[in-house]
Amino acid sequence: MIGRLNHVAIAVPDLDAASRLYHQTLGATVTPPQALPDHGVTVVFVTLPNTKIELLTPLGDASPIAGFLARNLAGGIHHLCFEVADLTAARDKLLAEGARVLGAPKIGAHGKPVLFLHPRDFNGTLIELEQS
Ligand code: CO
Repeated sequence: MIGRLNHVAIAVPDLDAASRLYHQTLGATVTPPQALPDHGVTVVFVTLPNTKIELLTPLGDASPIAGFLARNLAGGIHHLCFEVADLTAARDKLLAEGARVLGAPKIGAHGKPVLFLHPRDFNGTLIELEQS
């Protein structure tokens, strides 16, 4: 069901500093910051030959990653995003197998529907599925 690894997401306390680190120190191509108010985050994508890294930082007062950063002051790996050909079919299969799907699909950073799966059902890793 899952296809390509679309991105690995890292929550960061300082998005400008993290962008500089990936651009200047590691020599990667990074996108300009993109505010995603529906998700409570601002993101930058690091473009790699085989996948992307999503750097994300809180946006607004009720950001879903605020608690994560409070527990991980230097930042940390936050989620993995896999592509699926049919997000609705994937959700229905996961629900049938007892996995917890977090909320309804939303439009993600790439303009495509995404949804998240509870980390307790996936070895402590928050999973994002993106319609490919
Ligand atoms: Co993501």
